[in-house]
Amino acid sequence: MFGHLLLALLPLVGSAFAQSGSIYTDPGNGFTFDGITDPVYDVTYGVIFPTDTTSTEFIGEIVAPVAAQWIGVALGGAMIDNLLLVVWTNGNTIVSSTRYATDYIQPVPYAGPTLTTLPSSSVNSTHWKFVFRCQNCTSWLGGGSIPVSGSGVLAWAYSSIPVDDPADPNSDFLEHTDFGFFGMNFADAHTSNYNNYLNGNAGTSTPPTGSPTTTTTSPTTGPTTPATPYDYVIVGAGPGGIIAADRLSEAGKKVLLLERGGPSTGETGGTYTAPWAAGTNLTKFDIPGLFESMFTDSNPWYWCKDINFFAGCLLGGGTSVNGALYWYPTDSDFSTNNGWPNSWGYHQPYTSAMQARLPSTDHPSTDGQLYLEQSANVVMQLLNGQGYRQVTINNDVNSKDHVYGYSAFDFLNGKRGGPVATYLQTANARSNFVYKDYTMVSNIVRNGSQITGVKTNDTSLGPNGVVPLTPNGRVILSAGSFGSPRILFQSGIGPTDMLQTVQGNPAAAPNLPPQSEWINLPVGMAVSDNPSINLVFTHPSIDAYDNWADVWSDPRPADAAQYLASQSGVFAGASPKLNFWRAYSGIDANQRWAQGTVRPGAASVNTTLPYNASEIFTITVYLSQGITSRGRIGINAGLEATALVNPWLTDPVDKTVLIQALNDVVSNMNSISGLTMITPDSGMTIEEYVDLYDPGTMCSNHWVGSNKMGTNSSTAVVDENAKVFNTNNLFVVDASIIPALPVGNPHGMLMSAAEQAVANILALAGGP
Ligand SMILES: Cc1cc2nc3c(=O)[nH]c(=O)nc-3n(C[C@H](O)[C@H](O)[C@H](O)COP(=O)(O)OP(=O)(O)OC[C@H]3O[C@@H](n4cnc5c(N)ncnc54)[C@H](O)[C@@H]3O)c2cc1C
Ligand SMILES: *[C@@H]1O[C@H](CO)[C@@H](O)[C@H](O)[C@H]1NC(C)=O
Ligand SMILES: *[C@@H]1O[C@H](CO)[C@@H](O)[C@H](O)[C@H]1NC(C)=O
Ligand SMILES: *[C@@H]1O[C@H](CO)[C@@H](O)[C@H](O)[C@H]1NC(C)=O
Ligand SMILES: *[C@@H]1O[C@H](CO)[C@@H](O)[C@H](O)[C@H]1NC(C)=O
Ligand SMILES: *[C@@H]1O[C@H](CO)[C@@H](O)[C@H](O)[C@H]1NC(C)=O
Ligand SMILES: *[C@@H]1O[C@H](CO)[C@@H](O)[C@H](O)[C@H]1NC(C)=O
Ligand SMILES: *[C@@H]1O[C@H](CO)[C@@H](O)[C@H](O)[C@H]1NC(C)=O
Ligand SMILES: *[C@@H]1O[C@H](CO)[C@@H](O)[C@H](O)[C@H]1NC(C)=O
Repeated sequence: MFGHLLLALLPLVGSAFAQSGSIYTDPGNGFTFDGITDPVYDVTYGVIFPTDTTSTEFIGEIVAPVAAQWIGVALGGAMIDNLLLVVWTNGNTIVSSTRYATDYIQPVPYAGPTLTTLPSSSVNSTHWKFVFRCQNCTSWLGGGSIPVSGSGVLAWAYSSIPVDDPADPNSDFLEHTDFGFFGMNFADAHTSNYNNYLNGNAGTSTPPTGSPTTTTTSPTTGPTTPATPYDYVIVGAGPGGIIAADRLSEAGKKVLLLERGGPSTGETGGTYTAPWAAGTNLTKFDIPGLFESMFTDSNPWYWCKDINFFAGCLLGGGTSVNGALYWYPTDSDFSTNNGWPNSWGYHQPYTSAMQARLPSTDHPSTDGQLYLEQSANVVMQLLNGQGYRQVTINNDVNSKDHVYGYSAFDFLNGKRGGPVATYLQTANARSNFVYKDYTMVSNIVRNGSQITGVKTNDTSLGPNGVVPLTPNGRVILSAGSFGSPRILFQSGIGPTDMLQTVQGNPAAAPNLPPQSEWINLPVGMAVSDNPSINLVFTHPSIDAYDNWADVWSDPRPADAAQYLASQSGVFAGASPKLNFWRAYSGIDANQRWAQGTVRPGAASVNTTLPYNASEIFTITVYLSQGITSRGRIGINAGLEATALVNPWLTDPVDKTVLIQALNDVVSNMNSISGLTMITPDSGMTIEEYVDLYDPGTMCSNHWVGSNKMGTNSSTAVVDENAKVFNTNNLFVVDASIIPALPVGNPHGMLMSAAEQAVANILALAGGP
């Protein structure tokens, strides 16, 4: 079984190897390592040691494409009688162990060393990255060791076959698919930033060297420019921040809107165009039909790199990269049952204000025609057999039981519209409004409960990058469900464990207020996101549109030409074609809703049976309003925002209802001639499918609740005016204040909530 393994002894060193390690800096965490990237499997291996050569530990990393099922490293360059590290993923977590083998057999778990996963480790749709500390790792049983002051050899092993039990660090596995070696000059692989790395911080960029140097992390200092104060400083130009900026500037306030990213649509100066749209102002963020390419781009610079889930870090935030499914909120979305304070029960004036600025369309092509509607037609037939009726969804807003309709979007004139094309444009026309991009906010500056400024990374905005406020001035955080909690933590506001994490970060700690001024609020608690499950089908009538694979680089020529000529055709719409809802009650006291989204193509297919890939389509079933599962958002030592507790199906009743909803959708499948479900296929039940479903892929990117609104500070972060409890002049206006999920995808409801929040803020006494 383990016959063709690493050579037992390697008399070779350095230049005899096809590859030898060299110094590189990981762009993700900023750490400097010595190592290689194997060109065949594209796996990076790196190690770095402390300057103290008597130390017995090191920090290492393995960055591998998701195709790598497990990776091994032999610290002495051979398999037998060596300390071995073996690593794989289990869903979104990384599993590792130290092993040892005395022959070419299954390596067994090896005690003694301590392997710790460091915060910049991650798993995403394309790669996993294991950044780790290995203590008591430079020598091992049998006399082997790493020559930390000299040169030596490391060996790697690669497998395309999963381990037997990914959840078990001691799992068995089959022999590796391939292996290789590289020479290492360990004497060069030492850094004085070692302790910073342990804290998740890259420290200063001194080149690694054997000789110790001193490390300093000093707060930004800059010229004492006379800074311009503002009535309102708003952090983050997503839908929440843009609507706040527009309404406050409309009211004559002096407003500064800060955004960490840069332009998105052509209208905002964006230039990221597909090759076929070169020479136009139609960027990736303008053309609705490029939505699916957000997830397959080879350089997805627009995602936030310090958030472990998809979040847009560019002008427009999520509304520049999302599917733009746009539902006017229902009355139940703002009900006390759904967690809102009583005073929020009457949303209609705010929803109407939003509709007036940003109407929805379920016919996004400028010629008024529907395109690529085959999957909608098939699912309509299916749902008719289940007692559903067709509605124009945004005309019949409160009907959300047994209804379906064509998907509605906030596209305008065949292009992405949203708040960027509407609210931001009116704000931009006002002289009392200033927009500043590529500006990162770390924290707010405060004296107890009084906010005095906003700390940015741009020293041209004020001394140390701090933007001051006018007398009675206010700050509004609109940095999103992950971004706003992170700013609060760095400002000394949140649960003690999170503030201690900030305290442990050398770059952020100096900005924290003294512990006596910490404000303990449930920031990050009680978050929810729709658990969603994909069912994949084939039907002979479907055009799967090549699963959207070539829309960026090689689109169907006629469709591309039609879109460029008149913003009409397939490219004027995103992938969703039909949506449906059904209400569920019983089981416990709660009413829950299921939402379906239908689209041609599929994110992944899992079947051993033959199928025609040109005919695939997906029904995504989400559980929405009424779900009782909750999770927790927080930060790790590297200040990356992440889910500390996953929010999906933590309550078994949610799972029961979701399984019921999935079974209902397929209950009369046999009545539709030619309709076949291929994932799960006929070999698996819906129950088994849900049981096996990777929790990470249940994510819908609809996070709400991390700064939820409520009537008291033991269960909520902001009050009915969106003001952070126990502060005088700090507010939050973004998806994080929403106490619980609406019945549909959230951004329509969020924009109505933003209208209401900003109206309350303007009406609140004591402001500028
Ligand atoms: C892939 C994807 C698909 C989605 N599809 C849909 C859909 O079809 N329909 C729907 O209704 N919803 C959808 N959503 C959800 C929707 O986009 C979000 O609910 C919405 O964008 C949240 O708005 P927000 O204002 O809270 O924050 P965001 O949109 O996240 O905006 C936050 C902004 O703040 C900026 N920022 C963050 N931190 C800082 C900082 N420290 N300093 C300065 N600026 C900062 C960010 O760059 C960003 O621009 C989707 C989301 C994703 C990610
Ligand atoms: C270090 O590891 C060895 C095995 O390699 C073990 O025998 C020893 O007890 C460990 N030392 C410590 C301090 O853990
Ligand atoms: C996925 O992770 C890899 C390795 O950390 C990184 O290079 C890549 O940019 C990440 N992709 C996305 C979409 O975040
Ligand atoms: C693109 O936009 C810029 C700035 O708004 C404008 O000057 C230019 O004419 C536009 N180009 C095209 C091809 O429309
Ligand atoms: C501030 O941070 C943003 C976002 O990371 C970055 O684009 C910008 O260059 C930074 N500005 C400065 C002055 O460092
Ligand atoms: C903080 O506020 C208190 C009053 O609440 C005031 O006495 C003190 O001077 C302020 N400190 C600073 C640094 O402004
Ligand atoms: C694919 O389906 C098989 C059973 O048909 C199951 O064992 C396996 O876990 C599934 N894989 C994924 C990635 O869901
Ligand atoms: C697959 O489906 C396409 C589109 O319906 C059809 O043209 C093609 O003939 C089918 N292929 C096979 C092998 O059945
Ligand atoms: C705080 O609000 C929650 C939720 O509305 C409520 O259950 C609780 O009783 C309130 N606590 C206090 C002290 O008012």
